[in-house]
Amino acid sequence: MCGIVGYIGAREAFPVILKGLERLEYRGYDSAGIALYNKGIIELCKTKGKVADLRAKADKEGVVNGSIGIGHTRWATHGEPNDQNAHPHYSNSGDLAIIHNGIIENYASIKEALINRGYEFHSDTDTEVLVNLIEDVKTNENVKLGKAVQIALNQVVGAYAIAVFDRTKPDEIVVAKLGSPLAIGVGEDEFFIASDASPFIEYTNNAIYLEDEQMAIVKRGRDVRVRQVRSDKPVNPYVQELKMNLEQIEKGGYDHFMLKEIYEQPEAIKDTYRGRLRINDGIVKMAGVEDNLGKFLNAKRIIIVACGTSWHAGLVAEYIFEELMRIPVEVEYASEFRYRNPVITQDDVVIAISQSGETADTLAAIKLSKEKGAFVFGVCNVVGSSISRETHAGAYTHAGPEIGVASTKAFTTQITVLTLIALKLAKSTGKITHSEFHNYLAELETIPVKVQETLKTDAHVATIADIYKDATNCLYLGRGYNFPVALEGALKLKEISYIHAEGYPAAEMKHGPIALIDEQMPVVVIATKKGHYEKVVSNVQEIKSRKGKIIAVVTQGDKDVSKLADHVIEVPETHELLTPLLTTIPLQLLSYHIAVMRGCNVDQPRNLAKSVTVE
Ligand code: G6P
Repeated sequence: MCGIVGYIGAREAFPVILKGLERLEYRGYDSAGIALYNKGIIELCKTKGKVADLRAKADKEGVVNGSIGIGHTRWATHGEPNDQNAHPHYSNSGDLAIIHNGIIENYASIKEALINRGYEFHSDTDTEVLVNLIEDVKTNENVKLGKAVQIALNQVVGAYAIAVFDRTKPDEIVVAKLGSPLAIGVGEDEFFIASDASPFIEYTNNAIYLEDEQMAIVKRGRDVRVRQVRSDKPVNPYVQELKMNLEQIEKGGYDHFMLKEIYEQPEAIKDTYRGRLRINDGIVKMAGVEDNLGKFLNAKRIIIVACGTSWHAGLVAEYIFEELMRIPVEVEYASEFRYRNPVITQDDVVIAISQSGETADTLAAIKLSKEKGAFVFGVCNVVGSSISRETHAGAYTHAGPEIGVASTKAFTTQITVLTLIALKLAKSTGKITHSEFHNYLAELETIPVKVQETLKTDAHVATIADIYKDATNCLYLGRGYNFPVALEGALKLKEISYIHAEGYPAAEMKHGPIALIDEQMPVVVIATKKGHYEKVVSNVQEIKSRKGKIIAVVTQGDKDVSKLADHVIEVPETHELLTPLLTTIPLQLLSYHIAVMRGCNVDQPRNLAKSVTVE
């Protein structure tokens, strides 16, 4: 969580950093600040609230000039969101300014020691402790900033991506990373620092991604010197060429990123299978799977670890893997898995799913699985992310940047990639015949067009949203492949409209949730043909008899559920196993419209962050 940006070069740093912070607001948005070096002093502007509030404050106070600076958008961990706790933070002398994404776990003991040495603190943050620790080392050991940062970081426990500069030596920014992401954009005689590449993509396509426990001294107009924090060994930085473009990270005419990303799904799904799904050759091509085929084929069990929406994609994958491969699959919340001493063996394949590739709990679950000897495969969206580097092998979803905090295209592309893996493995083991394999591939190839058709329900879904926008509770029901879709639909509504919603397996309704149903209760039921259709029809009847309001997602041409439901949303017919890719779409649209109608901030829902890099 938290977004960090830095700039050193010949441009005015303020607009570069401010725009960068706006792009990183998905990482946190409860306070923001910028520090700039200006003629021997550090000018600071920070405030509680969003980057827009920071912009307004800077306009009011007069924009500061400077060609070196750092900025931060915060998701509070230590200390409530207020002006004092907003970053950047100064050291006591006022010489050093720092921004930090992460948590310093042993900050309390360091703070106590610094207080005993006469240091004063003006915020509740662990970050202010870190900058004073750096200053203390710098003064006492009489070393340069880079060395002081290195020594200080060897004393802290926790996670960090930091950028710090020194008023008395304003030709360099020192950065370091452990657990939280940090990229350095390499331009012509200028450098950018950011949590991801979006703040600098219009200036340069070249980036260095620091590895954990690496630090770098970024020198104005010169170079980037990378070292290991622990061993002090120099590292030759690898400059990557980025494929991302500016258009991908802008709203492109949509009111919100979430809506843009919902509408991008046909293309995103196509991008996910492009080059992999080769119907004419009768193959699925995935290097990460092929290179490790033995691991997958000899596995006695697949364990899927993930959080949030990615966990829901994992649940869909459980149904798909078990159906196609006949192998036991367990789906685990990474946060529970990592702390409960799970049984993991060398015969397990662990699949970690993460859009951002930075989720702290998922990362920890991966490390634990590796320690126990399991083979770990990553399914990530963000190229070069920590999880993609930490796993033994993996497959990217290629969904493109997802900015809206509520995940949409990441979910459908994760399901697409996991389906491709399951099909490939089922074919390799002969668990499905050649013609079944071919039929699945052919059907998967029709999904983008069918998603496009499903998106045409948008206006109709908006009219349903208008009727239920003031609901206080909502129930989502589904069975089989669509049970995880019910969970995901409920999560979307909670996240962005703050309406309490629960997803349930339809048959479980009788074991509790049915008590909630009355004429006030909207119940969203996914009731597509095939699978357990008749059973779901019975569930719909049970809701109807208790006067619940039924919003049913059905297959085009459906008669039975349509007779009973108050509202019907039709999706095209497809193979049962692929229905989540379609049934999810109207649920995304429903929560989107309800949130907009309730005046909620769709792209930046309260208290949430897109990338949860703290546990
Ligand atoms: C946060 C986001 C969710 C996301 C979850 C897991 O809670 O708000 O949208 O599903 O983290 O993130 P990951 O990047 O690991 O998929």
